[in-house]
Amino acid sequence: MESPSQAPHSGGSLWKGLLLTASILSDWIQLTSAQSDSVSVVPNPPYGAVGSSITLDIQGSSEQTPSYTWYRGAVSPSNEIAFYQVASGQLTSADSRLNVSSNGSLIIRDLILNDTGDYFVQFLDPTSSKIVTAEGYLAVYGPLSKPTISSTNMAPVENKDNVSLTCQSESQEVTYLVWYINQSSPAGDRIVLSLDNRTLTIINVTREDQGPYECEVQNPVSVNRSDPFTLNITYGPDTPMIVPTEPNYPVGATLELSCSADSNPPAQYTWLINGIQTVFTPQLSIPNVSLNHTGTYTCSASNSVTGLSSSKDISITISEIASKPNITANRTNVTENGTLVFTCSTEHEGIKILWLFNGTSLSLNERQYLSDNDQTLTIQNVTRKDAGSYQCEVWNPISSNRSDPLEVTVNYGPDYILFSPNPVTDEIQVILQTSLTLVCQVESYPPAQYEWRVNGTVNPEFTNNTYVIKNASWEDSGQYTCLAWNNITELSVAKDITISVVAEQSQKGSSLSGGAIAGIVIGVLAAVALIGALIYCLSFRNTGGADLL
Ligand SMILES: *[C@@H]1O[C@H](CO)[C@@H](O)[C@H](O)[C@H]1NC(C)=O
Ligand SMILES: *[C@@H]1O[C@H](CO)[C@@H](O)[C@H](O)[C@H]1NC(C)=O
Ligand SMILES: *[C@@H]1O[C@H](CO)[C@@H](O)[C@H](O)[C@H]1NC(C)=O
Ligand SMILES: *[C@@H]1O[C@H](CO)[C@@H](O)[C@H](O)[C@H]1NC(C)=O
Ligand SMILES: *[C@@H]1O[C@H](CO)[C@@H](O)[C@H](O)[C@H]1NC(C)=O
Ligand SMILES: *[C@@H]1O[C@H](CO)[C@@H](O)[C@H](O)[C@H]1NC(C)=O
Ligand SMILES: *[C@@H]1O[C@H](CO)[C@@H](O)[C@H](O)[C@H]1NC(C)=O
Ligand SMILES: *[C@@H]1O[C@H](CO)[C@@H](O)[C@H](O)[C@H]1NC(C)=O
Ligand SMILES: *[C@@H]1O[C@H](CO)[C@@H](O)[C@H](O)[C@H]1NC(C)=O
Ligand SMILES: *[C@@H]1O[C@H](CO)[C@@H](O)[C@H](O)[C@H]1NC(C)=O
Ligand SMILES: *[C@@H]1O[C@H](CO)[C@@H](O)[C@H](O)[C@H]1NC(C)=O
Ligand SMILES: *[C@@H]1O[C@H](CO)[C@@H](O)[C@H](O)[C@H]1NC(C)=O
Repeated sequence: MESPSQAPHSGGSLWKGLLLTASILSDWIQLTSAQSDSVSVVPNPPYGAVGSSITLDIQGSSEQTPSYTWYRGAVSPSNEIAFYQVASGQLTSADSRLNVSSNGSLIIRDLILNDTGDYFVQFLDPTSSKIVTAEGYLAVYGPLSKPTISSTNMAPVENKDNVSLTCQSESQEVTYLVWYINQSSPAGDRIVLSLDNRTLTIINVTREDQGPYECEVQNPVSVNRSDPFTLNITYGPDTPMIVPTEPNYPVGATLELSCSADSNPPAQYTWLINGIQTVFTPQLSIPNVSLNHTGTYTCSASNSVTGLSSSKDISITISEIASKPNITANRTNVTENGTLVFTCSTEHEGIKILWLFNGTSLSLNERQYLSDNDQTLTIQNVTRKDAGSYQCEVWNPISSNRSDPLEVTVNYGPDYILFSPNPVTDEIQVILQTSLTLVCQVESYPPAQYEWRVNGTVNPEFTNNTYVIKNASWEDSGQYTCLAWNNITELSVAKDITISVVAEQSQKGSSLSGGAIAGIVIGVLAAVALIGALIYCLSFRNTGGADLL
């Protein structure tokens, strides 16, 4: 390195002399030199990085020329940085980092930031014999230091304050600056960037704007990103939440309510019972509650930084465990068409009452109604279907209890009297020396009592609903009457039937039911006899007459 740099000194001064001459003619040179745009100095690579090397190429000239002179900053002797003689390959430079290649390119090693600037090269164009000056710009970039983020407001209030964040970087040669919010690019109406991107303003901040924010600085050779910056946005309190939400408690329970409201910084809490301040904690605990703890419980939350407060109510009801109610009726043994009044007695005031019939909830019909807070149930025009078991049930939010069942009997009848067998006409034929069992059926409660009459005379042998003729004889023919009565309802009912004893079966099938058809088959004589008998019977019945056909 040393020997080549020593030798050129004489040559260098020779050229300096020449250049001196040239500088005298500088005005002329400015006017006449090929200051063409076609020749320029181009850095390769386009940017220099501190510590690396770069080549400043002369573009647009392939001419052979005896020498190249390089300047930095301006074309003047004091700004000359390198002189290169092509024929000898001699370089004259005060800066050991510089070198010039045979095509005139300037090579700078170990670049520093101060190498940034305008570079000029001059050489003689052999064809035109003019001195050509070419110019180019070299930018040298160093590694960027880590930027930092600062904020105009350390605790902005939600929906009120605007915040400006500034990205500060010690390095000047930042060519590009970008922001990241939660790892993505800033977006939205409320975000404003300054022209150079250094300042990011968030208008009317919300709690979602807390970030983290990062800014990234770049130049062609380096990238650096700030540490994440989080905004401490103050907000709330939001409407508090009270847990548990259960509003009903039994007497003696411990009432424990907890309140929370979203807030930054955390809210201050106050509990009020029916408007009266009670405790200044988020938790409220009342052991062994009694009925008078029923009321409105309010949690109030406040935030001293935002100056806001918010509250929430819960209505708490304390109830006793429902005790068993008593059911009574003014009678449990009633006659149809009568009126029944049930009363449900309970020691709890204002408790809900439900009525049950035969174990299922009673759905009221037009004869039934409730009164006196459902404590009484009235049934008008009682029917036999109303017989059964009645209960009442008391309800409050925490419990229910059911009375013992009350059995109600309904007395009715007798009615719907019917004989079995049941002939189409009111006559039954019995074959001589056979038997007949006649049953009289009624609907009645309590069960009816019976009396049988034959030809109008009571037969005391038969006192229930069955009359038996064994081994029928001619004398057994006649009019038979069944009389049924109910001592409780004091109602009675009677029905007649004619029994005819015949020699033999007059018709196929049943000897008991074929009366009318038999009449047709037997013929005119028998028919006349029958009609005669009927007329006889009718006249007899009119005298005994309890029943009408
Ligand atoms: C760079 O240039 C400035 C003036 O332009 C000078 O003060 C500084 O010392 C130089 N730095 C180096 C490392 O040469
Ligand atoms: C946010 O700011 C508030 C108000 O200055 C302060 O009380 C709170 O401690 C801050 N929170 C954090 C996490 O710095
Ligand atoms: C900020 O936003 C809130 C809710 O979005 C709005 O009510 C309020 O008027 C806004 N304030 C300003 C200054 O824009
Ligand atoms: C500013 O940032 C945006 C992206 O947020 C980017 O497109 C733009 O080029 C940046 N401008 C400057 C000067 O860094
Ligand atoms: C609530 O009732 C209890 C008894 O059940 C009584 O000791 C207490 O004084 C009452 N409290 C209020 C505020 O009325
Ligand atoms: C109903 O009352 C009558 C008297 O009025 C009584 O003879 C009868 O036994 C009672 N029935 C029942 C089921 O209690
Ligand atoms: C109830 O009334 C109906 C008609 O209103 C009557 O037929 C019936 O016999 C009555 N029952 C009693 C038990 O009085
Ligand atoms: C039950 O009470 C009602 C009303 O007091 C009355 O009308 C009804 O006759 C009573 N019923 C009996 C069976 O006593
Ligand atoms: C229900 O009846 C029982 C016994 O007859 C009595 O001890 C109790 O006090 C009654 N309860 C009500 C609520 O009337
Ligand atoms: C009860 O029966 C009587 C007579 O049969 C009738 O006039 C009345 O409207 C009935 N009442 C109800 C509630 O059905
Ligand atoms: C109710 O129960 C009684 C027996 O307790 C029964 O005789 C009656 O038929 C039942 N009534 C209805 C409508 O189910
Ligand atoms: C009923 O009267 C009829 C004629 O009056 C007679 O033939 C018949 O034997 C009588 N029956 C009885 C059982 O008395």
